[in-house]
Amino acid sequence: MDPKELYKYEYAKKMLETELQILINEFERKHGYMPVEHVKSRIKTNESIRKKLEGRGYEYTTDNIMKHVSDVVGIRIVVSFLSDVYDVVSMIAKSTNILIKKRKDYIKEPKDSGYSSYHLIVLVPIYLEGYVEYVTAEIQVRTVAMDFWASLDHKIRYKFHEEIPFDVQKAMQEYALDIQELDRKMYEMNKIMSKYEKE
Ligand code: GTP
Ligand code: MG
Repeated sequence: MDPKELYKYEYAKKMLETELQILINEFERKHGYMPVEHVKSRIKTNESIRKKLEGRGYEYTTDNIMKHVSDVVGIRIVVSFLSDVYDVVSMIAKSTNILIKKRKDYIKEPKDSGYSSYHLIVLVPIYLEGYVEYVTAEIQVRTVAMDFWASLDHKIRYKFHEEIPFDVQKAMQEYALDIQELDRKMYEMNKIMSKYEKE
């Protein structure tokens, strides 16, 4: 990307990191517990932006990046329990500094691969000299278990260059169901635990 434009994504990443940190701290202060295990953020590499654009038949230009690549800035929020995913999403939705453009609930409707996570495409304001600009970013919210699955899946995709053997695909789909089941059990156990705490 034209390095002259890249700084906007750096600003947006910083804005988003700061806003999320404040929201998460506020959540902990109000509810007395921390739902977030960790937060990771990244800027997509030029090479990977180029690959994505060209794969979709677009030329590699600043204009096309802004129009067609929504995850130049990517934030991943990993939480403990299933219910935390939805708590974190509604916490973000309440923020007046982050505008939600699109929601994709791959937990309710997992992808064919078995992938599950909650995705938000958001707009973040960056304050430039005399004006405000909105930069698009992607926020992924998922449980530790979903994150575990996704990171192995990522390795598999990398290794097989997206042409994954059928038996590997089948196994990963099956493990995704195991993860779903485990997340549900852990959520139930946590509910039982909080009942004990109240007594
Ligand atoms: P991308 O071109 O991959 O960004 O797809 P998209 O614009 O249709 O968005 P989508 O919501 O499908 O996926 C966005 C991101 O979710 C990807 O960049 C990955 O980080 C993650 N993701 C989606 N599907 C999978 C999957 O099957 N396995 C893994 N490991 N990650 C996935
Ligand atoms: Mg992506």
